[in-house]
Amino acid sequence: MLKIAPSILSADFAVLGAECADVQRAGADLLHVDVMDGMFVPNISLGIPVIKSLRRATDMFLDVHLMIEKPVRYAEAFCRAGADLVNFHVEADTQENTLRAIELVRAQGQKTGVTLKPKTPAEAVKPYLGLVDLILIMTVEPGFGGQSFMHDMLPKIRAVRELIDVCAPGTELEVDGGIDGTTALLVTEAGANVLVAGSAVFGKTDRAAAIREIRDNAVI
Ligand code: DX5
Ligand code: ZN
Repeated sequence: MLKIAPSILSADFAVLGAECADVQRAGADLLHVDVMDGMFVPNISLGIPVIKSLRRATDMFLDVHLMIEKPVRYAEAFCRAGADLVNFHVEADTQENTLRAIELVRAQGQKTGVTLKPKTPAEAVKPYLGLVDLILIMTVEPGFGGQSFMHDMLPKIRAVRELIDVCAPGTELEVDGGIDGTTALLVTEAGANVLVAGSAVFGKTDRAAAIREIRDNAVI
């Protein structure tokens, strides 16, 4: 099932609750929340207090994308703050600690995902297939909104889709970075079903039209 996930990184943080309500009315399926620590990526965004406030402000599904070093340290705290799904970068710690982080989130009853940076190969998802609800493939270098889609990620999306279909059917395949009406066609053709879009939704005044454009161009 196709899901559109506006990334709040491109929202107006001074009126975040209203921004979230606006994209919900506009037809968004979930909210994508980018957490950055200035170490794993060269930018700082938001953390646990903002997620707590968001949890009170919206009933939308919160997909939390952790771009932080050693995220296992905060896995339970993000669950308690109100995340519905916590995404861990496979590059952010050892495999053992990433598996531990996944276990901690599952024990709290929340969903989990693993995320791959552009240079990380498709095979890196193998240890986690069957344990996570979602695989997130970055289609830009993580850290900033508004970058151009990396077309050379399309073969990786196809490869992960094949691995999912063989080893863990039902796992969602999310893409993040440079998604708009044009690239929505390419990534859904390649097998993605959850599309994160920051600037292509929050950067537009008519969010309903922006979401409709992405939905209409997707081939699922
Ligand atoms: C980048 C973030 C993205 C970002 C996407 O590190 O993970 O979620 O907000 O922004 P756009 O859709 O503008 O490329
Ligand atoms: Zn993201």
